[in-house]
Amino acid sequence: MIGLPLMDNNITKDDTDALIEFLKNSNIFTQNRNVREFESLWSEWLGVTYSVFVNSGSSANFITMAVIAELYGRGEVIVPAVTWSSDISSVIFAGHMPVFADINFENLAMAEKEIIAKITPDTKAVFLSHILGFNGLSGSLLQELENRGIMLIEDVCESHGATFKGKKCGTFGLASNFSFYFAHHMSTIEGGMICTNDKKFYEYARMFRSHGMVRESTDDDIKKNYYEKYPKLNPEFIFTVPGFNMRSTELNAVIGINQLKRLDENNKKRVENLKYFLENLDSDKYYVDFNVEGSVNYAFVLLLREADDVLFGKVCDRLCEEKVEFRRGTSGGGNQVRQPYIQKRFPGLNPKDYPNADFIHFYGMYIGNFPALERDKIRQLVEVLNVL
Ligand SMILES: Cc1ncc(COP(=O)(O)O)c(C=O)c1O
Repeated sequence: MIGLPLMDNNITKDDTDALIEFLKNSNIFTQNRNVREFESLWSEWLGVTYSVFVNSGSSANFITMAVIAELYGRGEVIVPAVTWSSDISSVIFAGHMPVFADINFENLAMAEKEIIAKITPDTKAVFLSHILGFNGLSGSLLQELENRGIMLIEDVCESHGATFKGKKCGTFGLASNFSFYFAHHMSTIEGGMICTNDKKFYEYARMFRSHGMVRESTDDDIKKNYYEKYPKLNPEFIFTVPGFNMRSTELNAVIGINQLKRLDENNKKRVENLKYFLENLDSDKYYVDFNVEGSVNYAFVLLLREADDVLFGKVCDRLCEEKVEFRRGTSGGGNQVRQPYIQKRFPGLNPKDYPNADFIHFYGMYIGNFPALERDKIRQLVEVLNVL
């Protein structure tokens, strides 16, 4: 039996030791100095000016879409048919209209020609997900969006450290979102980050994170404007936008600071693991032509070459026997258009209009790829898959 969980040892003894040390020596546990330090270290690591630490990647999505509605108005937002549910629910809750685009096989991100075809005069933003560690950008897409003045938001929740043309994913759009949930490249148990170079976006993200309060802004001009315009309000309690409470805590930030120290090293191992996995997998049975340039995958994507229910059934059975954990459909379980939360709201949408997403839905899955994974286990995994 191979025995392979989706993720192992993501929070180490070193992290819990750092946490215990912090707990022994501190008496402020709500968002404070460590949150600020984690934000600043994260900004430096990613290569952006501002980061806002929140309590999940989904919260990062919700805040980002709310900031867009607040600053730029509501409109259509182009979203992938394969992504996490909160990439679409955040669009809906902010009052935008999700417009689905099908994906590529080679990086599982929205296909450029699909995005371009879905642009209308009402398009407010393109919300692109970098799926399972693959870079989802291309030079021509970036150029096209720039030419048309359409905002790009990057969801990098599954792709910490992935790059496009040597620059980290999450630095190309107006804003980018990360998740630090347990099974990702690094973890704060629960957590997320919103990153941007745009000062105004940053200030509003901070206010949305904390009830919409103006005192959360770091910009004296923004504060002064509200104080002057609302003299009858207590400056401590001016709620500028209909905000959330999506703050994290010092405890999560302490873990994040410690985790960040080994992220790059861990990512190198993930890259080597994926390379070995793809090089040894039977390319007649399984799709291996992913564009791995700049990718950093915390999972092995397993995708059949052809639509073959029998083979897929065998793969699932065999992996279960071998106690290899897997998730069918890849990110978010596959084609989001098939999900009840979409079908209930948009009954006219046909999942089959997104054939690549549908193929992944039925013939794709992912298996864990973590730094402590031994080469021999990957070899055994590949052997088991190749004989099916
Ligand atoms: C692409 C993507 N976006 C957003 C999220 C949401 O992150 P979280 O689980 O931290 O809410 C996930 C979840 O894992 C994800 O895979």
